[in-house]
Amino acid sequence: IKIAVLVSGNGSNLQALIDSIEKGEIKGKIEVVISNKKGAYALKRAKRHGIDGIYIGKLNYPKREDRDKKLIDILNEKKIDLIVLAGYMSVLNERIVNMYRNRIINIHPSLIPSFCGKGYYGEKVHKAVLDYGVKLTGATVHFVDEGTDTGPVIFQRAVEIDFDDTVETLSKKVLKIEHQLLPLAVKLFCEGKIEVIGRKVKILDYM
Ligand code: GRF
Repeated sequence: IKIAVLVSGNGSNLQALIDSIEKGEIKGKIEVVISNKKGAYALKRAKRHGIDGIYIGKLNYPKREDRDKKLIDILNEKKIDLIVLAGYMSVLNERIVNMYRNRIINIHPSLIPSFCGKGYYGEKVHKAVLDYGVKLTGATVHFVDEGTDTGPVIFQRAVEIDFDDTVETLSKKVLKIEHQLLPLAVKLFCEGKIEVIGRKVKILDYM
């Protein structure tokens, strides 16, 4: 399975994927890492592991349609089977979502449908969680559809919130879960063990 990982920032989820693949846990290969942010540390992580890291953003493709076209060209050239959004802070063009129906996996740092959608990204999610005063939060891995954080849910895992938790301590707790859930979802996808029926996801016989 040929994988493209789309990033925008630090790339700790990318790193978790790279580590799991290098341990031989995933029957897939990251063919390319694409960032919409030029200085994303995630691009350095890719290069460090001999993975093609490409910047596609406003600086080299000012027009949106050129960025979309370049992205599609790369996905086709590299014969990508699975797209993983690992902290990718841009909305994917609908054409790509349709071309890759149920073959785009996203990780979101909350228990969808809570604290997700427009405006809920990165630390803003944890701030909203703390401001609301909920007792549980967590991470969700889901397939991407036309909406924002609205596609079929693959996995969720919860974490308890302590009274003295801050955005910093909470994001650390949730990232730890993200780094477990995302590789697991990619592993099972590569093994053909994830079935989507309507908007519900069935995981076939995994330990
Ligand atoms: C993670 O919290 C992820 O859930 C969210 O953006 C953050 C990306 O972190 N989508 P990293 O770049 O993978 O470290």
